[in-house]
Amino acid sequence: MAINRRKIGIIGAGHVGSHGGYALISQGLAEEIVYIDIDEKKAAAQALDLYDSSTYLSHHATVRAGNYSDIKDADILIVAAGPLPDMAAGQNDRQQTLGATVEILKDIVPKIKASGFDGIIINISNPADVVAHYIQEKLNWNPRRILSTSTTLDSARVRRAIAEATGYDQKSINAYALSEHGETQFVPWSLVTVAGKPLLELIKEQPERFGKLNLDEIAQTAKKAGWIILGGKGSTEFGIGASIANVVQAIFCDENRILPVSTLLQGEYGYTDVFASVPCRLNNEGVAEVIELKLTEGEKAKFDASVKSMSENYKRALGI
Ligand code: 2OP
Repeated sequence: MAINRRKIGIIGAGHVGSHGGYALISQGLAEEIVYIDIDEKKAAAQALDLYDSSTYLSHHATVRAGNYSDIKDADILIVAAGPLPDMAAGQNDRQQTLGATVEILKDIVPKIKASGFDGIIINISNPADVVAHYIQEKLNWNPRRILSTSTTLDSARVRRAIAEATGYDQKSINAYALSEHGETQFVPWSLVTVAGKPLLELIKEQPERFGKLNLDEIAQTAKKAGWIILGGKGSTEFGIGASIANVVQAIFCDENRILPVSTLLQGEYGYTDVFASVPCRLNNEGVAEVIELKLTEGEKAKFDASVKSMSENYKRALGI
């Protein structure tokens, strides 16, 4: 029996694609990565730079530039094409990049279809949730085999912000940002725990220590993080790179780990036909299960408002 090499195609050799690739090879999560970019010179340069780094990494990997015929036998395809929001031009919502991303996808999507690729698609391109939905619909892809990292990244930012405010390490905090990798995301505070203990209970029990925590401010700090990073250096890359690697690990290692990713809701949370980021069990089938959290009335109202906004933007993507 042949032992499989894990192969990943990455469409888009920009900041996100290249840092995603580095996180993957430095963590030993792929034996082969192929970059595809309309700018072939850039794809070749990123691939070569990453390949050089592999000499001093613990795991073997080959990294090269290629074309769509090279992804036929890939296990995972990462879509990281399209612009980052242009803050200098006044963009302050990832939905504002939708038109430009869809134009790029009009070229990419038929090529994915023609390539014969039949693995798992992870979309990163913004606005991540709506774009994942657009690709799923255009390719008529099995909804359990296409997802977006979406609020995996925002959840990391929430946990980091809670860690800063409480002094607990972010890995000991269980917290999610839900629904959209974007402006309508929210934190269901009723479900945030430290060592399994609800944070809201901790606040009540230790008012002198936690009474001054401003939960809205923490959620805002997390939501604004992407903009602060973009404003400071023109791109975000390390956080999303690590998020990509986490999701890929859960899939390749058949972990059944639960991460907040964007998936097509099929009745969960009372919705169908919308991609939203919710905790999902990931294994080598892709999204094996959508976990339905018990949200408070206020949290559900935020979820509903977010879904409404994403559904409207999805229609905009389809030109409806
Ligand atoms: C991020 O949040 C800009 O979507 C990108 O890092």
